[in-house]
Parts: sequence; C-alpha cells; structure tokens
Amino acid sequence: MGKEVILKVEHINKNFGETVALKDINFSITKGSIHSLVGKNGAGKSTIVNIIAGVYKQTNGKVTFEGNDIGNLSFKERQDRGIELVTQHASVVLDMDVAENIFLGLWPRSKFKLVDRKAMHENAQKVLDEFGLKVDPYELVRRLTPVEQRKLNIIRALFSGGKLIILDEPTTSLSIDDRNNLFRFVKKHAENGVTFILISHYLEEILQVSDAITVLRDGSAYDGNVGEGVGYDRQMELAKIIAGEDVELTFRDEDKVVNEEVAVECEGISAKFLDQADLKIHRGEIVGFVGFSGSGARELCLALYGLMEKKSGKVKILGEDVDIKNPTDALKYKICLVPNDRHAEGIVPIMSVEENIGLSCLKTRLKGKFGLLDNSKEVELADDYVKQLAIKTQSIYAASGSLSGGNQQKVVLAKVLAVNPTLLILDEPTIGIDIKSREEIMGLIKDLTNEGMSVIYLTNDFDELLRIVDRVVIFNEGKIVGDMKNENLSPDKIVNIRDRRAV
Ligand SMILES: Nc1ncnc2c1ncn2[C@@H]1O[C@H](COP(=O)(O)OP(=O)(O)O)[C@@H](O)[C@H]1O
Ligand SMILES: [Mg+2]
Repeated sequence: MGKEVILKVEHINKNFGETVALKDINFSITKGSIHSLVGKNGAGKSTIVNIIAGVYKQTNGKVTFEGNDIGNLSFKERQDRGIELVTQHASVVLDMDVAENIFLGLWPRSKFKLVDRKAMHENAQKVLDEFGLKVDPYELVRRLTPVEQRKLNIIRALFSGGKLIILDEPTTSLSIDDRNNLFRFVKKHAENGVTFILISHYLEEILQVSDAITVLRDGSAYDGNVGEGVGYDRQMELAKIIAGEDVELTFRDEDKVVNEEVAVECEGISAKFLDQADLKIHRGEIVGFVGFSGSGARELCLALYGLMEKKSGKVKILGEDVDIKNPTDALKYKICLVPNDRHAEGIVPIMSVEENIGLSCLKTRLKGKFGLLDNSKEVELADDYVKQLAIKTQSIYAASGSLSGGNQQKVVLAKVLAVNPTLLILDEPTIGIDIKSREEIMGLIKDLTNEGMSVIYLTNDFDELLRIVDRVVIFNEGKIVGDMKNENLSPDKIVNIRDRRAV
C-alpha cells in the first residue's frame, strides 16, 4: 500500500455569503486508507467534501489529487478521475432495479440505442459478485434493506472507477448491526487499495475502522489521531476535540424512583405485526422499546399515536379510556411522537423555525383574540426553545430546511415539547446527531420526565438506551418477549432476549 498521498487539501477557505464555513483547512489522505471526518452538525464536514468533489468552489486554497491541482475541474471531470461522492440521502433510484442502478448513465449510450436488458443484468451480476453484494440484479431497489442500498451506492462508485470514495453520513438510519456490516464492507475495499473519506457520528465505529481522523470544529480542522485504542476513554477524548470542551454523558439517576401513577395503559392491543400487547407506562418513566422492524415495537408506537389502525385492544391515558384514531386525537390527549424520518414527517422545511415550533399549539396556547394566532406568544415560545435546546440558527425566522440535521431534529423536538406531552414517543431521536447535541437532548428528556412526562424511547442503540431508560420492553414477532427494569442489563443481554424466538 505504501504511504502514497492520493489527496491533499491546503489552506482551504469557504464562505457562504456572511457565513464562514471553513477556515484554513489542511490535511492529506493516504492511498488505500479510510480517513474519517468527524464534527458537530454544522462544523463544515459536508462543505469540505463538496469542495473536494467539485460541487462547491472554495473561496481560496488548493486541492491536489494524485499530484495534480484539480481546482479548475468540474464535478464530472473529477468523477472521471475517480472521485466519487455518495451523499447522505442514498443516491439510488428506488423504483429502478439493481442492475439499472449500477449502470445508470454508464450503459453504452452511443453504440446501441436500446439497452440490452439481458446483457445488462448479466453484467450486473458479475459486478455484484466482484464487489461482494448478494442481491438479485432484477430486484427493485426499494425492496433492498437500507444497508444493501448503501452498499449498492458504493458498488456503483467502485464500478465507475472510483479511487476516492466519499461517504457523507452513510450510517444515518442504519441499525448498529447494519452499521458494522457496512463498515466491514468499506474496510474490505480499502484493503484492496480504494481510498475512503468517511463522515459519521458513531465514534466507536469510527475509531475501529479509521486509519486517520480529522476533526472539524467551527470550520477549523484538528488532528483526531491522539491516543490509542477504541474504548470509552478514547471516545471521550475524541468527543472533547469535537465539542471543544468536555462532553458529559447523560445517565439516569441510579436512585430514581418511578411514580406509581400509571400514565398509559395498553390492554390487548393488536395491529399489523402486533399481537395482544399489554403494557403499563408510569408517570415520569422512560421505557425503552427494542425490536427489529416488523417486531411490533414501532407498530405499538404508531398505534398509540393513531398512525396505525388497532384491530383490537384498549388504551387508557391517565385512567381515562381513549380512542385515538389519528394524530389529531393523539394531540388532544397530549401524546406526541418524534418520527425517525424527520425529513418525511417531522418538519416543514420551507417554514421558519418559529412556525415549526408553534405548529402543535396553534389551537391551544398560541390562540389569541378572535381565535387568531397570537404572534408574540409564538415568538416567545420559539425564542424560549431555541435557547433551551441550543438550536443553532441564524434567527427564529430562518427556514427550518436551512438548518443542519441535528438542529432540525431539535426543532422537531421543540415542536412537540411545546405541547407539554403526557407521553412522548421518540423514534430513534438521536440519529445523525452529533455527540454534544445528543447528550443535550437526552439530558433535556431526562429533566422533563422528572416533571412527570412519560417517554417511550425506541432505539437500536443499546448503549444509549441503557444510559437513559428506566425499563426495557423487548419485542419479537409481534409479542412482548421481555419487560424488565434497567438493572444489571447489558447490550448482550438485550440481544439475547430479543433473538430468542417468541414461541
Ligand atoms: N449551501 C449553503 N449555503 C449557505 N450556508 C451553507 C451552505 N452549506 C452549508 N452552509 C453553512 O456552512 C456551515 C457548515 O455546514 P456543513 O458543511 O453542512 O456542516 P456539517 O456537514 O458538518 O454538518 C454551516 O454553518 C451551514 O449552515
Ligand atoms: Mg453534513
């Protein structure tokens, strides 16, 4: 492999109007290595890789690839030289099949007018075999798992001659197993000489897989290659460089006494993928839900929130029988949900931060004279949450879509917290969020439960789960297969219970 430098960035600056996104960035990447970029949301990670790929032009500074200054080359020209950018929202076409995705735009254009579909699929099979992905070339990409879709992205990049493949948060929305699986795939290809730039928030995995780490913080670069190992201490060291200060992890209070009062009672709830679930959630309790997709865990959340039809069963909120058929009903009983796909459900990107935060309270606390919206109350509410959650935005009037991912997630959270929920359902709330913001969000949730809010915390991140929940409820094949206090639990124990089949 040698120590050959494949890419070098020198004195890169980038301004977006008034915003200084990058300040004098310098680093080199060795051929065949995995070079990770880490940093808080908004630190400049996507900006630097977009400059490397030729999507953005730097304000000044130099990018050298294989010894040549590529500053004047277009995105396409850099692609032809082997720089491939794979962005956060998988660049696959869901309604095309695997082969079509691999050959998209690459299949002989000039020679044949019509694409020879049979030959294309046969060739796709060869490509899949070569790069090690076991999927059917005729399968619709929509039907692949998220990790298979990400691998397909990478394979497409490799097939089209990628030498430097940039993965901008490829692990967002992947489970812990899938993350590891994807990183192994990347590692294997790096060993074959392909170079990767990897952007991710998962420090443990980053430390395991990277040959070098650059930290971006407020537009400046720092060396992340301090110390040895991948353990907890090492992660905290890296977290400190990322945050620019010590990061305190949030833990539940060991001596927390859960209220006897029942906030939510489910009796024999059946729905799609869910069979006769009985469950009580106490006031102020944080209950972790664990289970694969289709296990019933997410389905129970959706049924409680009125997004999935119940076939049978009863729900009581604070002792009162309720019949929640849709999210509007749920809001009446102060049941709120933060969805795992904030892009699809959580936020209206073109509306301002203020408007998004106010959305759930238009008919309640923001209602002014003559039933009109009380604008000054909305401003006050938004100001308040922007402070409490440390939401990084130019102002409360900025479009929510212009915020970085983690900050958008905070806006979603603010929107539901403004309701003072009785039950807050969090579906993978910290996905794609930097470590500092994650701990802030977890800390806030913890504080609010001390004031009586109950929480369902649905996540596949068991380390995070065990730090915060009072109880763990485990689902498999539509049944609750485990329900225990968070005492002497470990991720392994949870996995064992989850994977013991429910018979
Ligand atoms: N196209 C753009 N226009 C204006 N500002 C931008 C644009 N892209 C990024 N920024 C700003 O540049 C900074 C760095 O953003 P980004 O590179 O996306 O961060 P990261 O990927 O580390 O979360 C942020 O302050 C962001 O708001
Ligand atoms: Mg980014």
